[in-house]
Amino acid sequence: MTRPTSLTVRGHLPDGYLADALRRDAALGLTAHPKWLPPKWFYDARGSRLFEDITRLPEYYPTRAEREILERHAVDIAATLSAHTLVELGSGSSEKTRLLLDALRGIGSLERYVPVDVSEPALVEAGEALLRDYPGLAVEAVVSDFDAHLGIPDGPGPTLVAFLGGTLGNLTPDQRAVFLASVRSQLRAGDGLVLGADLVKDPGVLVRAYDDAAGVTADFNRNVLRVLNRELDADFNVDRFDHVAVWDSQNAWIEMRLRSHGDQTVKLRDLDLVVEFADGEEMRTEISAKFRASGLAAEIERAGFAVTRWWTDSENRFGVALATPV
Ligand code: SAH
Ligand code: AVI
Repeated sequence: MTRPTSLTVRGHLPDGYLADALRRDAALGLTAHPKWLPPKWFYDARGSRLFEDITRLPEYYPTRAEREILERHAVDIAATLSAHTLVELGSGSSEKTRLLLDALRGIGSLERYVPVDVSEPALVEAGEALLRDYPGLAVEAVVSDFDAHLGIPDGPGPTLVAFLGGTLGNLTPDQRAVFLASVRSQLRAGDGLVLGADLVKDPGVLVRAYDDAAGVTADFNRNVLRVLNRELDADFNVDRFDHVAVWDSQNAWIEMRLRSHGDQTVKLRDLDLVVEFADGEEMRTEISAKFRASGLAAEIERAGFAVTRWWTDSENRFGVALATPV
């Protein structure tokens, strides 16, 4: 008999944590020189939908390239680990994850899927779609901020942790080291990590992927200002900030910025904060690091993993590593 499919959505953070974290980040980032905001605040319901639109743009290759790798190798991943639990950090729409779910169900090992994301609307939408398409699967969604709490549940293993899409690249090198060590500390022998990462390539291709002709990425970038307007009673004039995407070859990352169009004064009433922007001033809103296979393997290994498999797509644009705890 097929067990009923179930969806639960739990918070893994103390009450008010995310509201406080947004206040802290905005107060810190908007008074820094140069100004910055962390990328996790892009993803309200609108931002999560805009990210999904980005994944379908002709210029934005990472999603298609990673999908190609998973289409080829999800079965190898499942055969190596036979996971009972699949935990996905920063799961978003969980679309590509279906390839892992299918492979793990194919070998009969999977019992539950734990998508973890800071965006509750994304979790609910993805969870409801999975509910329809995966009878018998327990979907235990967790709203969490992986900077504070990974949200990996206890329970019988083996557990496979997936971190897809290249989201590792949205962390600074120091944040990546902390993040990977923290994932490692929660895994046991027999568990594994499947990690997708975008690779260094022609800067023109990279910049186009982050500055598309239709302006969807620009809209996504400006969305963080809409989030601040709503959540912190701020008065950013969203249309007076231009989207900027530049390749920083020294750091091997794309940097997204918002450039002030004219001198502007912005009030954030909830923070009792007034912020001045000079004409042309740029505020960093995201880094998206691009990796070389050897550098990424070294980072994963420093965190206490062995990289057991490494695959790239047919055009060598994107890589997926399978790592196990040592
Ligand atoms: N993994 C999906 C989505 C990538 S978009 C894919 O490959 O297509 C990045 C996702 O990470 C978003 O859903 C966003 O809400 C989530 N995210 C970003 N920062 C986060 C954080 N600090 N904690 C938890 N989730 C985060
Ligand atoms: C989620 N993350 C890996 C995306 C990226 O490519 O860095 C977010 C994004 N930013 C602009 N376009 C997409």
